[in-house]
Amino acid sequence: VSTSSAHPPFIDRNASSALVRAYRGERGESTPVWFMRQAGRSLPEYRELRMGTDMLDACLNPAMASEITLQPVRRHGVDAAIFFSDIVIPVRLAGVDVRIVPGRGPVLENPVRSAADVAALPPLDPDALAPIREAVGLTVDALGATPLIGFAGAPYTLASYLVEGGPSKEQMLTRAMMHSDPDAWAALLSWCAEITGAFLAAQIEAGASAGQLFDSWAGSLSLADYTAHVAPFSQRAIAPARALGVPLVHFGIGTGELLAAMHGIGVDVMGVDWRLPLDEASRRLGDAVPLQGNVDPALLAAPWPVLEAHVRDVLARGKAAPAHVLNLGHGVPPTTDPDVLTRLVEFVHTHA
Ligand code: CP3
Repeated sequence: VSTSSAHPPFIDRNASSALVRAYRGERGESTPVWFMRQAGRSLPEYRELRMGTDMLDACLNPAMASEITLQPVRRHGVDAAIFFSDIVIPVRLAGVDVRIVPGRGPVLENPVRSAADVAALPPLDPDALAPIREAVGLTVDALGATPLIGFAGAPYTLASYLVEGGPSKEQMLTRAMMHSDPDAWAALLSWCAEITGAFLAAQIEAGASAGQLFDSWAGSLSLADYTAHVAPFSQRAIAPARALGVPLVHFGIGTGELLAAMHGIGVDVMGVDWRLPLDEASRRLGDAVPLQGNVDPALLAAPWPVLEAHVRDVLARGKAAPAHVLNLGHGVPPTTDPDVLTRLVEFVHTHA
């Protein structure tokens, strides 16, 4: 993976917002904050709106997806919206039978296990992304000065759902295919890079100010496997978005050992989970990369003084990096009291 390609010039989209400035490495008076999975089940207004609508149908209804995206911005005053969608939306839009089972995650009718299965994967018609473009357009109009973050799943994480047929703990079949049939693996990851790259670029073309690539399950990989069999495809997935000139964030769970390699695909900011202290993460990146993270989601359920002490520690360690965007180390748990998130945003904004 080449790490040397110069970044295209950043475009001027919400360039003066605290979020975009931090993503570009500038430190402001206070630390910007948003939460992964801020749109979703922790909010009663979300549960009410979603009632009776299937998850992926909700994502493909532009008015509903836009409204859900805006809900946490109104309620918590976070510094960014993240587009309400899902990493398997481009898979569905390509015509593959995938559903989201509540409490479980994405499930495929026919898992992709052989070279023939891979060869049968249909291309994604760019016109199929129309509801995504429409939802993003509605959202950025309503957001005004608050930036919208677009996102996509990285090819490895996406492929793991396709091969396993559903969520899995260690992606055993996926990692077996990587080594047993390298040609099928490369074809599968190319397909994933193509569709997920188009999904991310569509959001940015339609007005998103930044993008985040989720390689949630990359932490199951050795550095050698990540570098040889995954990173080149992640690099391809972000290429169309990168050419559009918005800052890009890359995030995975349990990926402390992969941090530099994940940064090396050509992103601007690294997201860090709760396992690795931010000062150590920054050290591993030569203290040269803006960081996002990494409040332990478990502590959202702790008494306020416990959470506050933890957040103070995260903010202090985040000072090691050129800039810091406060976030959780993974998504908001569905049982979180939304008032805790609102209080947390206020605390971060008033803490020097
Ligand atoms: O606020 C946000 O972060 C925006 C929306 C968002 C969703 N999914 C909505 C969603 C984002 C960024 C995602 C990404 C996503 N989806 C990832 C990467 C991030 C991560 O969590 O690691 C992954 C691995 C998926 C796949 C997926 N989709 C899972 C594992 C689940 C959970 C299943 C469950 O019910 O526990 C989903 C469903 C999903 N995606 C929900 C939401 C709000 C819950 C659906 C519901 O409300 O019933």
